[in-house]
Amino acid sequence: MSRGRGRLVTVEGVDGAGKSTHIPLIAERLRAAGRTVLVTREPGGSALAEKLRALVLAEPMDPVVETLLMFAARLDHVQRQIAPALEGGSWVLCDRFTDATRAYQGGGKGVDAGLIDRLAEATHPGLQPYRTLVFDCPYEVARSRLAATGKPLDRFEREARDFFERVRAGYLAAAAREPDRIRVIDAAQPLETVIKTLEEEISTL
Ligand code: TMP
Repeated sequence: MSRGRGRLVTVEGVDGAGKSTHIPLIAERLRAAGRTVLVTREPGGSALAEKLRALVLAEPMDPVVETLLMFAARLDHVQRQIAPALEGGSWVLCDRFTDATRAYQGGGKGVDAGLIDRLAEATHPGLQPYRTLVFDCPYEVARSRLAATGKPLDRFEREARDFFERVRAGYLAAAAREPDRIRVIDAAQPLETVIKTLEEEISTL
């Protein structure tokens, strides 16, 4: 679903699946098709939400506090960036959105799904991604990709394998429930194959 004339497209997946590498390609293809595109991310995407991002990725906290901060960041981001862009007719390409809260805080940390649904309804009533691309890969692939970046790991990337598996299962279950909206991309495939699959998906937008 969209708000205004634009459409919200989100990109999701376990840490290390490589989704961020592919976002510029998706944006480029959408622009080539004549769309104005805002590329943004969560947590973050607005000045306040970026400050909350720095906090939430670094500071240990209760999973419900974490959930509330994700939605606080999201509300500011929706109000200041996403809703105005959609209302102005732009497409919004967002690196993570509420599906991440369901997978990480819900699936990964056991936060009540009903609470997440209520917060989602309060934060972005009537706004759902039009399409969501989930980059999926096994733990070993994700770990070696994260290691290859050479960057220090954040609080979520340092979590143990069972957390990764719960998050991954959360995304796959969401895709099984909503196959029209949520498309799974096998990110363990060779890069050219991933790009080919991605291009097929983009052509359906
Ligand atoms: P990123 O590395 O993809 O930018 O995401 C930052 C981390 O934040 C990632 O490990 C997933 C996590 N996250 C949540 O746990 N819940 C959320 O709602 C969002 C948006 C991200």
